[in-house]
Amino acid sequence: MFPCALNGAARCWMKRCTPGRAFSTPRPRLVLGIETSCDETGAAVLDETGVIWGESLHSQKKTHLDAGGIIPTVAQRLHRENISRVVQEALDRSGIEPSELTAVATTVKPGLALSLGIGLDFSMKFVRLHRKPFIPIHHMEAHALTVRMLHPVDFPFLVLLVSGGHSLLALAKGIDEFLLLGQTVDVAAGDTLDKIARRLSLKNHPECSTLSGGQAIELLAKEGDRLAFHFKSPMGQLYDCNFSFAGLRNQVTMAINKKEREEGVEKGQLLSCVKDIAAASQHTVASHMAKRTHRAILFCKSKGFLPQHNPTLVVSGGVASNEYIRQTLKIVTDATGLHLLCPPSKFCTDNGVMIAWNGIERLKQGKGIMSYTEEVNYEPKAPLGLDITSEVKDAAIKLPPLKLRINS
Ligand code: KG4
Ligand code: ZN
Repeated sequence: MFPCALNGAARCWMKRCTPGRAFSTPRPRLVLGIETSCDETGAAVLDETGVIWGESLHSQKKTHLDAGGIIPTVAQRLHRENISRVVQEALDRSGIEPSELTAVATTVKPGLALSLGIGLDFSMKFVRLHRKPFIPIHHMEAHALTVRMLHPVDFPFLVLLVSGGHSLLALAKGIDEFLLLGQTVDVAAGDTLDKIARRLSLKNHPECSTLSGGQAIELLAKEGDRLAFHFKSPMGQLYDCNFSFAGLRNQVTMAINKKEREEGVEKGQLLSCVKDIAAASQHTVASHMAKRTHRAILFCKSKGFLPQHNPTLVVSGGVASNEYIRQTLKIVTDATGLHLLCPPSKFCTDNGVMIAWNGIERLKQGKGIMSYTEEVNYEPKAPLGLDITSEVKDAAIKLPPLKLRINS
């Protein structure tokens, strides 16, 4: 590194320093983010403007696909085996030393206990060794805020978070202030798609062997006829913003059982109509989400919760990578005058960048920053914000008709 020609600093803090060029830029604050709440070991170094200095991600997807689901002890072992390397890779790629970090941010809730434990243990040792502040992160808060790293979105905004473990609608009022409008009463959208994909043996499909269940369903649905099967949209008579996917999974399983009998298909073999089942399942998930989101928008409008200027719906979490679901939600936001924002796929699924960004947001506001001497525990279950789902239910808002039809 060359000394800065303007301030004489021994080292230039700009990410891509051109030797000999003059710099007067003060050193930006840098946060190392660490994610291990489920099946991705992620780490990233970010500065306060949202520039990613270095990142690394190890996905356990292939192992869990082969095993037919996430086995917590296996996830824990894989996190343990990979975390040092992943963090070191993120640091090496960023070209900075641990001593140059401003703080370390790590997911501590919610998630799989055994997975969270590995990230937290590693982080506590790291911050104690390097005497750095520690910022504990709520995984869903991180999904909700990622968008602000990429777009200037002001609070308040409505957020739909749909992942393997969660499905929820919330009003984001501040970086750590959320009103929970609705959540799943049984299983999450991503988990349901994963289980449907598994029941259809999609990992035996040549184009789907390395894809998550949701990705496989999206890919096959592109060539499927969603009208070939009719699955009832969940919770039609409940005028709240909660979600339910267990009933859909039952309906799909029953349809698969019937088709397997008709076609004489053995376990592990592919049905001739997998694409149609994928398309119909994806459509039912998308329209269920769209209807609950539509009601959440009307509820927020009736309460004056959303700004007049540029009211926004943010959609994030792994399932938000789905283009069909995004397009269905766009019909709702177009009809209600909201602006729809979804981070690119890479930032919708779990990664270290979103955790580091949440750390930056907290650092900037001085919220939730702990000393390396303090004890921190992980929390497998942790609600997001203040639960006002019963208020939403009491409002019992009926939806005006809206055609959720996507031209494929
Ligand atoms: O946010 P995420 O990476 O991890 C959790 O926090 O759960 O989400 C993973 C979930 C999986 O269930 C996966 O099947 C789903 O997101 N997913 C998708 C797509 N890509 C990932 N679901 C539908 N369409 C996709 N393209
Ligand atoms: Zn997630």
